[in-house]
Amino acid sequence: MIKKIRIAIQKSGRLNEDSLQILKDCGVSIDNGRDQLKANAANFPLEVFYLRNGDIPQYLRDGVVDIAILGENVLIEKGDDIAIAQKLGFSKCRVSLALPKGTKYDSVKDFEGKKIATSYPNTVLGYLSQFGVKADLHIINGSVEIAPNIGLADAICDIVSSGSTLFKNGLKEVEVMLKSEAVLAVSSKIDAERQEILDKLLFRIQSVLKGRD
Ligand code: PRP
Ligand code: MG
Repeated sequence: MIKKIRIAIQKSGRLNEDSLQILKDCGVSIDNGRDQLKANAANFPLEVFYLRNGDIPQYLRDGVVDIAILGENVLIEKGDDIAIAQKLGFSKCRVSLALPKGTKYDSVKDFEGKKIATSYPNTVLGYLSQFGVKADLHIINGSVEIAPNIGLADAICDIVSSGSTLFKNGLKEVEVMLKSEAVLAVSSKIDAERQEILDKLLFRIQSVLKGRD
């Protein structure tokens, strides 16, 4: 039986559509009912698993998927050990610290002792520790920008893309901790046969990216 390469893609959210689009542009068409968590490519040895963003690094580590399209920021937060085969040029964003608009801000030292709501604790702790700053983290999984308004935190750290969520919640971006985009990540457990399939896919992806420039 011919092996298939197993790719993880964000189940729902901002990367989902662009991820499927780049596969389509590579000539890999996926026939799926929207509700399925697993789908096959019709004309390429590839199987798609639709997963939650934050779970993908662990699936790669375990080798239950071979490759994944996900935000580099998620890898930095949860999978520093996982290799990136290709940056994909879409879903560009920043991971930033933000404060209520009226708050005076001079430097990152101002976060000392502050309560920060975030879904990216490792990224925040790593960043602040470079400056010797200790803050109190409050970990939440979504709607982070609401935290200062409801008295849950003094500040937030989250993804900023257009900036509209910050704006709507009366927050200002004060520190850009990192810049991120979608990447193709690879499991260290990928076998030789699937590595060959990956090489073919990468060749196509690189041609597509050249065409997009
Ligand atoms: C993401 C992210 C920010 C927002 C950034 O949230 O967590 O809140 O998008 O985008 P913007 O700068 O263009 O406004 P999402 O809408 O995916 O919801 P969630 O945080 O509840 O998961
Ligand atoms: Mg959000």
